[in-house]
Amino acid sequence: MTALAQARPRHDVPPAAAATGGAARTMVAIERMTMAFGDFVAVRDVDIQVGDGEFLAIVGPTGCGKSTILNAVAGLLTPASGGVAIDGRAVAGVQGSVGYLFQQDALLPWKTALENVELGLRFRGVPGGERGRRARDWLAKVGLSGFEHRFPHQLSGGQRKRVQMAQALIVEPKVILMDEPFSALDIHTRHLMQNELLRLWQEDRRSVILITHDLEEAIALGDRVVVLASGPGSRVVESFHVPLERPRNVAEIKLDPRFTDLYRDIWACLRGEVEKSYAYGD
Ligand SMILES: Nc1ncnc2c1ncn2[C@@H]1O[C@H](COP(=O)(O)OP(=O)(O)OP(=O)(O)O)[C@@H](O)[C@H]1O
Ligand SMILES: [Mg+2]
Repeated sequence: MTALAQARPRHDVPPAAAATGGAARTMVAIERMTMAFGDFVAVRDVDIQVGDGEFLAIVGPTGCGKSTILNAVAGLLTPASGGVAIDGRAVAGVQGSVGYLFQQDALLPWKTALENVELGLRFRGVPGGERGRRARDWLAKVGLSGFEHRFPHQLSGGQRKRVQMAQALIVEPKVILMDEPFSALDIHTRHLMQNELLRLWQEDRRSVILITHDLEEAIALGDRVVVLASGPGSRVVESFHVPLERPRNVAEIKLDPRFTDLYRDIWACLRGEVEKSYAYGD
């Protein structure tokens, strides 16, 4: 534990539970993982555990390796050393047990909303009738009944994100990975989507890893916030437990004094890393 952490005892949770935010079972175990692109080491010796049903948010300066870590969990990239396990099984290759909301828009432009949502079930060999029914149900859950036959270019940015959310969740993954899912949305749509995500997650708790630049979003949504150091060779600087009860309303919770206290403490930790990352780029 860093000196910074020792100076802030009120965020402490019992050591045994601290690594997974209090959850009983580890769902994702990232262990001593180093990710490199040729000679360039993006992240070094990263250890992160996510409990079953835990909502973990990761923040860190731009370029520090957040998407790289997520890609390793999804099995899209292979670590240079160390590794990842999901539910006790080492990750090797693309994972069927993972739902991924990519940083970039990832819908297929030539398929309708319904067809995009169905994709994961199609790959798993689910028959057409059942596929259509489940995809319609999911579009309804994300508030898009009546939009089944629209193509992505006929949807707003917020609606496209909803389709992506349905696409990721329909396969009932053990782990949901989200890479800045709401960063391109205006603030009102973002609040709406954040609340919607919390509602869906609350119904059926899966393990979530959410990457965000928005510290308020990280605290409002997460059970725990992990701060990454600036790159290259990024590592975990600290992990903060979020002591706010659920269900939460993301707009209202920001007025809670515990929220502002925690924001101040995490920002004190994150700010230095952000400044270093800009100095490195100079
Ligand atoms: N395919 C690649 N080849 C070489 N370097 C890469 C590759 N992908 C990422 N990098 C480098 O690895 C580092 C981490 O990239 P990554 O995309 O994980 O950052 P990030 O934390 O997600 O940034 P942002 O917040 O801007 O999305 C960066 O310095 C990036 O330039
Ligand atoms: Mg990224």
